[in-house]
Amino acid sequence: MASDKRNEAHNGALALPEILIAELESADCVLLTTPIHNFTVPSVLKAWLDHVVRPRRTFKLTEAGKVGLLRDRPTWVVLACGDTLADEHGGKVYFATPYLTHVFKTIGIADLDILVLQGLNRGDKYHTVTQLQLDRWLEQLSTTRAVVAILTTIHWPYRT
Ligand SMILES: Cc1cc2nc3c(=O)[nH]c(=O)nc-3n(C[C@H](O)[C@H](O)[C@H](O)COP(=O)(O)O)c2cc1C
Repeated sequence: MASDKRNEAHNGALALPEILIAELESADCVLLTTPIHNFTVPSVLKAWLDHVVRPRRTFKLTEAGKVGLLRDRPTWVVLACGDTLADEHGGKVYFATPYLTHVFKTIGIADLDILVLQGLNRGDKYHTVTQLQLDRWLEQLSTTRAVVAILTTIHWPYRT
């Protein structure tokens, strides 16, 4: 709805999305850590995305398709999966990676680095592998001090 047609109720409904979009706009980089719930992102993360992915605000519709309106920036995503991608009981179906890649690109964020940690509910063998993956990933990111400071908060609880 065009802004000049909105009433008080409409503007009230847009207050939270505006805060969330402003937060995203002001970020130099984005770090998203999330578990997988039923093959994709949890409903709270989906709700956040539904607030920030908005026509004429974070993307525009053109004849060539949707074009993102946010400036691109480094965005790191850590996905925690209880199962493994190789699980024969449906574990291979992981919509989160293509979904997040597509939805962030829709709003203009294409510089995405996704780390998938698998088998977190499958015992020590997987914990060792995922810890190594996480360590290697953190090492690669360690050139940016601010990022390492944030990541440490997910790193240490995970070690215990
Ligand atoms: C409602 C729910 C659905 C889940 N669905 C999946 C799933 O589809 N695939 C998977 O690998 N793990 C699934 N899990 C396990 C979580 O991904 C796993 O617990 C996560 O890796 C670790 O995060 P946590 O320690 O915060 O629970 C699910 C967990 C919950 C609570």
